[in-house]
Amino acid sequence: MKRISALFMLVSALISCSDKSVQRNNGKNNAYIQKADSVLSLMTLDEKIGQTVLFTSGWDVTGPSMDENYKEYLKNGSVGAVFNAFTTKYNRELQKIAVEDTRLGIPLLFGYDVIHGHRTIFPIPLGESASWDLELMEKTARVAATEASAEGINWTFAPMVDIARDARWGRIAEGAGEDTYLGSLIAGARVKGFQGDDLSANNTILACAKHYAAYGAALAGRDYNTVDMSENELRTTYLPPFKAALDAGVATFMNAFNDLNGVPATGNEFLLRDILKGEWTFNGFVVTDYTSMNEMVAHGYAGDEKQAGEIAMNAGVDMDMQGGIYMKYLKESVGEGKVSEADLDDAVRRILEMKFRLGLFDDPYRYLDEKREKEEILNDAHLETARDAARKSMVLLKNENRVLPLSPDQKVALIGPLVKDEKNIIGNWAAAGDRNGTAVSVFEGFEERLGEGGFLYAEGCKITGGDTSGFAAAVATAGKADVVVMVVGELEGMTGEAASRTDINIPGKQKALIEAVKNTGKPVVLVLMNGRPLTLEWENNTVDAILEAWWPGTMGGHAVADVLYGDYNPSGKLTVSFPRAVGQLPLFYNHKNTGRPIDSGDPDQKYVSRYLYTPNTPLYPFGYGLSYTSFSYEVSTDKEKMTPEDTLTVTAEVTNTGDRDGEEVVQLYVHDKVASITPPVKQLKKFEKVFIKAGETKTVVFELSAEDLKFYNRELERIYEPGEFELFVAGDSDNSFTHAFELVDK
Ligand code: GLC
Repeated sequence: MKRISALFMLVSALISCSDKSVQRNNGKNNAYIQKADSVLSLMTLDEKIGQTVLFTSGWDVTGPSMDENYKEYLKNGSVGAVFNAFTTKYNRELQKIAVEDTRLGIPLLFGYDVIHGHRTIFPIPLGESASWDLELMEKTARVAATEASAEGINWTFAPMVDIARDARWGRIAEGAGEDTYLGSLIAGARVKGFQGDDLSANNTILACAKHYAAYGAALAGRDYNTVDMSENELRTTYLPPFKAALDAGVATFMNAFNDLNGVPATGNEFLLRDILKGEWTFNGFVVTDYTSMNEMVAHGYAGDEKQAGEIAMNAGVDMDMQGGIYMKYLKESVGEGKVSEADLDDAVRRILEMKFRLGLFDDPYRYLDEKREKEEILNDAHLETARDAARKSMVLLKNENRVLPLSPDQKVALIGPLVKDEKNIIGNWAAAGDRNGTAVSVFEGFEERLGEGGFLYAEGCKITGGDTSGFAAAVATAGKADVVVMVVGELEGMTGEAASRTDINIPGKQKALIEAVKNTGKPVVLVLMNGRPLTLEWENNTVDAILEAWWPGTMGGHAVADVLYGDYNPSGKLTVSFPRAVGQLPLFYNHKNTGRPIDSGDPDQKYVSRYLYTPNTPLYPFGYGLSYTSFSYEVSTDKEKMTPEDTLTVTAEVTNTGDRDGEEVVQLYVHDKVASITPPVKQLKKFEKVFIKAGETKTVVFELSAEDLKFYNRELERIYEPGEFELFVAGDSDNSFTHAFELVDK
């Protein structure tokens, strides 16, 4: 501590007389860059390289493990950051080595995958996105940062902002679904939640926009697979959430594993230097994904690891996660002139700048406060936020004959392998979340509400496997109930990284269990716990109600009970389309019309773009979700022609026509009828989530401008074109256009 402050006093003195400033970040002179430069000027080549090295501490396994002698590396300044390490005790031990045992005493960053909570776990991001509640998503990220920073973490590898349209891909669970506009707003909200408005505060942490870029478009939904697309599609669909994260001030980016148009993202100068650091003037730093630098050899893009390091540094990668390549080879590469020291300096400057922003040079131990650790972790306020987030994330997919909400005087049977689950319920990427009893199962949620013995229970079967020996007991239990609630779904490990599936049915013998229980004639409510859209056509035709609960997190059991008993009227809306069949994937609402659209008007026309025996439409569309009440819409526009200087005012009078208060996500979709790039059949352009009391009407007003109608033309210019448009405002994307307007030149 004394070493660094003396050193820093010296460099601060240097700054005051130095007129040297690095112009970046839109030309704004940045004192942090000057501070970073002042430290940089004191560093040896070895010390510079040390700052570009990130190693796992091995406390959590999030990828293939490599050399783990990280403590040795710490002592000689060969490591600038550690991940998968937390608790104040452990991180203080590591920080002390870096600050007190090395020549310059430069503090460490501590990174971790705090994706949807740290100890208090919130619904998986795909679930949370279904709340369409940006304030809520910012708040849960804020809580996550508060808890993580209380345990010594100052950098999260989140938000994951990959647009995903293929439910075979397990990592669809980690993002915000299929829509670029909504995904961009959510990216910004999550960054603000993690980073707050003062990175030097001890409860804010660096965020990381990942995985840059287009990882969600992996061919055939197979993780790590090839991605190939036009630059127009890249800029239209996949880059905007990253730009939104950057506009929200995200401190770091993580490059993706995949190759993009033949160039691995880890060595992709176009993505990293041309767009991110050039066009977007990003002033944070780029970290690779886990050994993705080494993997350029397997990609066939680098002959060996040393060359992979040179490609990466020249392309704009600032930090090597777990690859050990920068540590082993960068000094030689600089000596050979294959990497310029100026590029290395820029990488180190970016990393040091973030350490200054975090306040680590003022106090390297600021995130290591044992008192905070006790106060912040899993406190009541955080648990209440988790319960609220879980409720608001759930999507009611079916509710025939108003079988829901349940009434307390009904005899309920809870049946299924996920009724008592406290392990899978917190989902994948659950960081330091506890899987051994902290989470509230559905069983416990019902116990709190109905008391011990207040309901019947049978497991029926496991999530996977072919054992049906529990069926008889389950059927008998169902027979004694008025209504059956079945909690079924996937193993949490069936989604997340390296978890692609070729069929997306409810696995194992759960479907057979549902059938056996349904054959008792009792009303059956399905509660789904899963991390991806599933194929549910048979279930949709068989059971009476379906509630999509996703992986609802630490308070999931209470939240399920709250929704099933109507304490909370479900308001979630899907942010991903649910297909009828896996063969429809990738599937998304804002698709192109093609030259032979299926709804060409002639139902007998054979030669149209369709499948034999399966409709093109999803089982449940983007933006869809039911409520225990209902809503009607009266929509009007204030003009039929608008100029680029105008705005079109779209007014929706939304009435709660039911007998129960509720929330509605009012969505505005627009269709550009003719454009110089084939336009999608519709695009979400605006939305607002509103609470409306039973019988009341709320007026929702959207202002549509020419800016909202822009797209990338053939020259990749973002433009609007005069012409005919149509729109509708509704509670989901599967509606007909009701209003037309024209954008005229003037
Ligand atoms: C993993 C994931 C990435 C994560 C990183 C560190 O492989 O791809 O999302 O942040 O490694 O755990």
